[in-house]
Amino acid sequence: MTQTNPLRFSVNGYPQSLDVPPNLALLDALRDGGGLTGTKECCAVGECGACTVKVNGRTVNSCLMLAVEADGAEITTIEGLAVDGQLNPVQQAFLDYGAIQCGFCIPGMVMSAQAVIDNNPCPGLEEIREGLSGNLCRCAGYNRMFEAMLEVSRHNGDSGPREQERRRVRHDALRGAQDDAIAHGPAEVES
Ligand code: FES
Ligand code: FES
Repeated sequence: MTQTNPLRFSVNGYPQSLDVPPNLALLDALRDGGGLTGTKECCAVGECGACTVKVNGRTVNSCLMLAVEADGAEITTIEGLAVDGQLNPVQQAFLDYGAIQCGFCIPGMVMSAQAVIDNNPCPGLEEIREGLSGNLCRCAGYNRMFEAMLEVSRHNGDSGPREQERRRVRHDALRGAQDDAIAHGPAEVES
């Protein structure tokens, strides 16, 4: 009889429980046990990045990680990036820039691209190249991927200062209301 271990983790915000053999790769647990087939297997030896997922906020090659090592972890797969059926900005930019050819590398590529943006919302080309260097694309569509990410970077750069200004105004308004309440007591509520 094959020995199994109980595995509890959170995948894309949902708790999951599986019984897995001790030598099962996280990639197989996600695909076969969890039905999340967006994450791809290509080389299975840590060379191509097709199997990239996030585990506790860090990108990993899920073909190289044992499922049992992910016990208690929070995992994000490509299925977890879109919200309410809306592609996230990185996914949308890949689509808009035609950065997808056969598509096999794309889930892993997008997970690594998202990690770059999470780390720095406005990365430059060198940072983008470095962040995607662990992901191989056999169709060699790298330039369009870089362009897509530079677009996300530009967009974040444009919206960044406006968002900061909006927050500053809101902060000042709240601060003013607090000062008023301290000086004059809470505002009367009209009945
Ligand atoms: S399938 Fe995991 S790195 Fe290639
Ligand atoms: S789009 Fe075909 S391997 Fe990258």
